[in-house]
Amino acid sequence: MPDSTTVAVILAAGKGTRMHSDKPKVLQTLLGETMLRSVATAAQTVCAQVLTVVGHGHDLVRKAHPDLAEGFVLQAEQMGTGHALQTAWERVRQSGASHCLVLNGDTPLVPPEALEDLLDAVREGSDVAFLSAVLPSSGAFGRVVRGPGGDVLSIVEAKDYDPATHGPDTGEVNTGLFCLRVAPVDNILFDLSSANKSGEFYITDLVGLAVASGLRVHAQRREGAHELMGINSPLELAHAEEHMRAGIVLAHMAAGVLIHQHHGVVIGPRVSLEPGAELTGPCRILGASHIERGASVGAFTQIVDSRVSAGAEVREHCHLENATLAADVIAGPYARLRPGAVLHQGARVGNFVEMKKAVLGPGAKASHLTYLGDCEVGAGANIGAGTITCNYDGVNKHTTQIGAGAFIGSNTALVAPVTVGEKALVGAGSVITKDVPEGGLAIARSKQTNLERRGRKP
Ligand code: UD1
Ligand code: CA
Repeated sequence: MPDSTTVAVILAAGKGTRMHSDKPKVLQTLLGETMLRSVATAAQTVCAQVLTVVGHGHDLVRKAHPDLAEGFVLQAEQMGTGHALQTAWERVRQSGASHCLVLNGDTPLVPPEALEDLLDAVREGSDVAFLSAVLPSSGAFGRVVRGPGGDVLSIVEAKDYDPATHGPDTGEVNTGLFCLRVAPVDNILFDLSSANKSGEFYITDLVGLAVASGLRVHAQRREGAHELMGINSPLELAHAEEHMRAGIVLAHMAAGVLIHQHHGVVIGPRVSLEPGAELTGPCRILGASHIERGASVGAFTQIVDSRVSAGAEVREHCHLENATLAADVIAGPYARLRPGAVLHQGARVGNFVEMKKAVLGPGAKASHLTYLGDCEVGAGANIGAGTITCNYDGVNKHTTQIGAGAFIGSNTALVAPVTVGEKALVGAGSVITKDVPEGGLAIARSKQTNLERRGRKP
């Protein structure tokens, strides 16, 4: 249960220079989810309130996360992680929370149970607690310095670390995850100094300050903590994404999802798959997609925010986004189902068929080379190859209604707004601009004339 006595602060204002991208670092994605989304989701599992410090590209970050925007705090100039927390501190005070969990926006793999563990440490009496990890090499991470008795004395950033002063490097580093008791930290947070090699206010200096003012400091060491280390470069992003991908795919297979060529299968963290669903890689299933038992997804297919029901078959090379496929639908190969595509039970779309805001009734078929946009097709209707709904007049979009059991001949243009009645027949090659009555036959093409070919002897 999210806890109302703890407020989370996500530090997400940095540019992420080492990423070599114009995009703010927290907008980089892993399995289709932004880093910030993943961190916020973890934070929301333990805290009722989440604040996010934004700065570099904050308008883009806001646009991508409208649901988090109420908790955004602007750090106009990025003067370090300590300064970022100072910027959010007034909101922390106002929240009335007694504890503050601080997360780096570049740690998308942070497991919620690590946050819980740290919170427990603080509930047990620490004023400043942080998660540390022991790595084979300390790299560019902040190093944990302990006294002769093993007590934590400070965190020293890599640039400022000097073995002569701070002792030999032990490999114990700061993960960047802190939990602070608000009342005592209130007295020291604004004492941070920027007198260091980067000229920044480091949150890590809080540890030394806390020790100096007699507060209780606790470093919780965590095994396997590479998941908690921040993502700073394209290579680290790739490693983290692959780690996440393999874990998710493995978990689905263990739960009973049948996955062929699993090395090439990408499944987002919010996707739900029922045991008995079948996937063939390479394929990507992202967003809030749901795939039921007995449904199958072919290779080279991408499915985003879509629902595929039992017994439905999405064949190779399909693209689905915000589409809904009822039971026993067959799509593809090479179908493109854009937002608002709804296929009722047993409907079929074949190769090079595009649907947008279009409904295919039960058993209706559009088997080849067709565009259905802003359109409703009744049960059992048959849409011939090359049919196009001309839904856009250059200014507005208009709808097309096709009744149940209607038959649209090949290469028909349906100029919307237009209605074809139930069981009506439209001749191939027609340009339909007027409604066709129920059971009627419409032919709208010029008649063929056969003439004698000049210059040729019979
Ligand atoms: C930080 C820690 C380091 C730790 C490492 C773990 C500091 C000074 N160092 O280093 O001890 O080992 O994380 O991954 O905290 N940010 C802001 N505003 C700023 C600067 C940064 O919001 O002014 C945000 C960034 O967007 C990022 C997070 O803070 O999400 C951490 O900043 P980053 O520059 O990645 O810190 P590291 O050098 O990795
Ligand atoms: Ca980092």
